[in-house]
Amino acid sequence: MQTLPGFRDFYPEECARRNYILSVWREVARRYGFVEYDGPVLEPIELYQKKSGGELVGQLFDFTDKGGRHAALRPEMTPTLARMVAARERDFKKPLKWFCVPQFFRYEKPQRGRGREFYQFNADIIGEASAAADAELIALVIDVLREFGFSERDFIVRLSSRTAWQKFFADAGGRPEDEYEFFQIVDKAERLPAEKTSAALARLNVPGLTAEAVLAFLRGKQPADLGPVLESLEARGLADFVEIDYAIVRGLAYYTGVVFEVFDRSKNERALAGGGRYDKLLSLMSDGKVDLAALGFGLGDVVLGNLIDDTPEAKARMTAWTSRQRACDVYLIVAKEERRADALALVQQLRLAGLRVDFPLTEAKVGKQFQAAEHLGAELAVVVGEEWPLLKIKTLATRAEEAVPNTGLADWLRNRTTNVPLVQG
Ligand code: HAM
Repeated sequence: MQTLPGFRDFYPEECARRNYILSVWREVARRYGFVEYDGPVLEPIELYQKKSGGELVGQLFDFTDKGGRHAALRPEMTPTLARMVAARERDFKKPLKWFCVPQFFRYEKPQRGRGREFYQFNADIIGEASAAADAELIALVIDVLREFGFSERDFIVRLSSRTAWQKFFADAGGRPEDEYEFFQIVDKAERLPAEKTSAALARLNVPGLTAEAVLAFLRGKQPADLGPVLESLEARGLADFVEIDYAIVRGLAYYTGVVFEVFDRSKNERALAGGGRYDKLLSLMSDGKVDLAALGFGLGDVVLGNLIDDTPEAKARMTAWTSRQRACDVYLIVAKEERRADALALVQQLRLAGLRVDFPLTEAKVGKQFQAAEHLGAELAVVVGEEWPLLKIKTLATRAEEAVPNTGLADWLRNRTTNVPLVQG
């Protein structure tokens, strides 16, 4: 039997890749002072129907539970985050800088860069209205990608502003309730022939709002309210990673101000990441009780994984990391079956001391045991045999052998293995 379409098995190799991606996300988020949080995998469906909006609502994995509740598997984090913060707003000092690395589910057509299950790094800042927060967040996404081994030659952050488009639309005489539909037209304006854009605009009934005017604004690349964000990024030496692109409007309904998406330069992939301001969502979520400015982004693991595979520097970094994640440091060879009880006591003692230790569960030829040690990537083989309480220790890479007493063995081995400790102090 196969997995459902769009779902993935994570064999150890894929699991190591996933862990690498998640560990880089966590590491760089912490460098920026973000703290980790999480929420439920299942939410009431209204949370997404009312708060996500856009095409996401049609992509929900939803069902009725045994208590008759209509629930959906989470397709994104932003509505959950807004609910959580609104519920306990007073408990937290502002601005909040929170991140998470959840798995999401969307019923989309599986294709390159798109699955029905994926992981997404989310970083959000809540309670800060200034452009400094937008710049901080964009700098974070840039540094996360740099940590993977990408440079400004590999990706670009496209910066836009819903505020600028709102003003454009209002100045032309557009009604606020038509804004979202107008954004959808802007989203497609560069891909469709001007006549189609004109026809779509005509339905909004705003005299003088033409496809030419929309395209001229789109291509004008005026900094408008993006100026301070660009200045802050320039001061951080990150100007080469960003450009203004008013074709970006974002699909989700809740965005309000600065919005952005990150693309690979080769343009072979869909967006790697997307985000922006959603200054009204917390108020909406709390019926006006909590009114906090907010912004954030989501960076998925699928497009990122494709790009890592296609970029030699990034691939080399990932391989260096995953190959360090070997199954064991030390393989204990039971050369004399009568010594199995001593061997078991030793295994236990070494594991308690924090070493990764494996050994043969049943009797096996010594040659086979050495093969198993190599296969698992062990650095050292400890032979328990006739010489007990002396042990023969073999460095597998060099084949060098030493005789060591069984007392104080854990310390001796720890000094010899190069692997990182399992639990960091
Ligand atoms: P989004 O644009 O829907 O934003 O998703 C962000 C990224 O997640 C996309 O650019 C893409 O890389 C990845 N992604 C989305 N759907 C899929 C899929 N079906 N398969 C694989 N990857 C996918 C949001 O989700 C917003 N909630 C982000 C945000 C956080 N805004 C503010 N805070």
